[in-house]
Amino acid sequence: MSEIASVYPVMIAGTGSYLPEKVMTNADLEKFVDTTDEWITSRTGIKERRIAADDEFTSHLATKAAKKALEQAGMEASDLQLIIVATISPDTITPATACYVQHNLGATEAIAYDISAACSGFLYAMKIAKRMISDGAYENALIIGAEKLSSFVNWEDRNTCVLFGDGAGAAVLRRSEEGEGRILATEMGTDGAQTGILNIPGGGSACPTTSANVNDKLASLQMSGREVFKLAVNAMKKASEKVIERAGLAPDDIKLVIPHQANLRIIDAIADRLAVPNEKVFVNLDKYGNTSAAAVAIALDEAHRTGRFERGDKIVLVVFGAGLTWAASAIEW
Ligand code: UT7
Repeated sequence: MSEIASVYPVMIAGTGSYLPEKVMTNADLEKFVDTTDEWITSRTGIKERRIAADDEFTSHLATKAAKKALEQAGMEASDLQLIIVATISPDTITPATACYVQHNLGATEAIAYDISAACSGFLYAMKIAKRMISDGAYENALIIGAEKLSSFVNWEDRNTCVLFGDGAGAAVLRRSEEGEGRILATEMGTDGAQTGILNIPGGGSACPTTSANVNDKLASLQMSGREVFKLAVNAMKKASEKVIERAGLAPDDIKLVIPHQANLRIIDAIADRLAVPNEKVFVNLDKYGNTSAAAVAIALDEAHRTGRFERGDKIVLVVFGAGLTWAASAIEW
């Protein structure tokens, strides 16, 4: 599908992230689940993850990340016109987590809604917001990836509980002026034939919450890790190549690739297939594990704040997740 020429170019004016204070290390996990630091480190690259407090919800994490992004963008919450929260761990099934965030921020002029695209949600939100701004419907948008996955993990299942963590990342998008950066190309994809390999089967209309299915842990994440792994590498490679080509870039032009933070072996495989050296690939999953929709947003903010790219540099973001879904963005900062 060809990208329709934008009326208004769109840039990222600010980023922010927030991680809960509590750290859970691999050694902590060894105490209550049959696993080892050696297994988790060698199979995933994860060393620790953050766990939100009982009274700290997804909207709270999202609000804190959003405030930092707004501050960096030099923008008041009251000026925001659109808020999209990407999450699979909303505060409530309804209303949307974005509504709580709108209220927390005092962003009274913004419309607010959630999207559910699992780990791909932040880049889905980026494409939606970019198009809304480039079409002239809105002048700015706040997009957030936020998750409290610790509430949806089966802490007795070593296949999944060692992988995930809590956190939030945010970005403020706005119309870009002459000489400023811009989002060059975006790509999204979905394969609904793969809904069964990564899901939370209970708690929806297909399997409403009952004490029986809560006891059976049906309202927790379930995953066929190996199948997801294989499909993820392929999908991320293709999505990255599409945005690189559409943006008119060569691999050498790319300052940094920021991939979804799920597994170091997946990240290495992507770097290899894109022929991008490892030092040009951002990794922070050792500290936070897989925070689903938040992961690439947190990584973008950390890479930005630690000077891994500057104005004018070209970066590529690429993700995959349940659905299956995948997405990529090429950005001139
Ligand atoms: O955001 C998208 C989310 N999903 C992903 O990105 C997941 C993609 N997949 C993966 O990252 C990897 O498939 C995993 C890290 C989930 C698993 O790694 P793997 O190398 O594919 O291992 P496996 O599932 O094939 O399991 C190998 C062995 C099994 O034992 P047996 O059957 O060989 O005796 C598992 O029971 O490792 C065992 N195992 C563990 N052992 C210690 C599984 N989890 C653990 C654990 N600790 N936590």
